[in-house]
Amino acid sequence: MKRRAFIKSGVLGTVASVITTSTQAKMVTPSEVEGPFYPITPRKDQDADLTRVAGKGGLAQGEIIDVFGQVLDTDLKPVEGVTLDLWQANSFGKYHHPHDTNSAPVDEHFQAWAIMQSGSEGRYKFKTVIPGAYPLGRNQQRTPHIHFKIAKNGYVSLLTQMYFPNQVLNEQDGLFKRKSASEQAMMTAKAVGKSNQYQYDIIIEKL
Ligand SMILES: [Fe+2]
Repeated sequence: MKRRAFIKSGVLGTVASVITTSTQAKMVTPSEVEGPFYPITPRKDQDADLTRVAGKGGLAQGEIIDVFGQVLDTDLKPVEGVTLDLWQANSFGKYHHPHDTNSAPVDEHFQAWAIMQSGSEGRYKFKTVIPGAYPLGRNQQRTPHIHFKIAKNGYVSLLTQMYFPNQVLNEQDGLFKRKSASEQAMMTAKAVGKSNQYQYDIIIEKL
């Protein structure tokens, strides 16, 4: 009897955990590590146009794109007033960070960091450039990605990285490869409409 009871509870436990795991994987945008280059150099210009730095005349180098989307909860209802804190490498793969030892050039016209809030219908939008890949250790490269910290009172904070479709390095990226196909799909922006437009919807969870 004891053995049967044990087996029964074991089976039920497995089923319950599978259901929980698959629901979370489908519903909430997967999290990812922060990485070493969260900005520490103060920057007054943190607006939604990363292709220009206030007070400087030039334009960032690289392929200029718009990234837009909605922040939604797990019932797919829009969430307004969510803080999106995002940072990325410039088009050469260099971060605006004193600890980035990559020899790639600095782009003084690239803002590199932005903080914004989701507005009506949970929508947000920013203009930037496709980040360059950058070396990781001796033999690896990080595929192009944008880091996000996403937070609002009453919701589980989310730290993640957004990827781009059709990047040859995606399949070789150590972090991207660890994710399941459905997680990769949720973390990868969609190229939509006219060129250089990327949609990235983010799903966060109520506390
Ligand atoms: Fe990074």
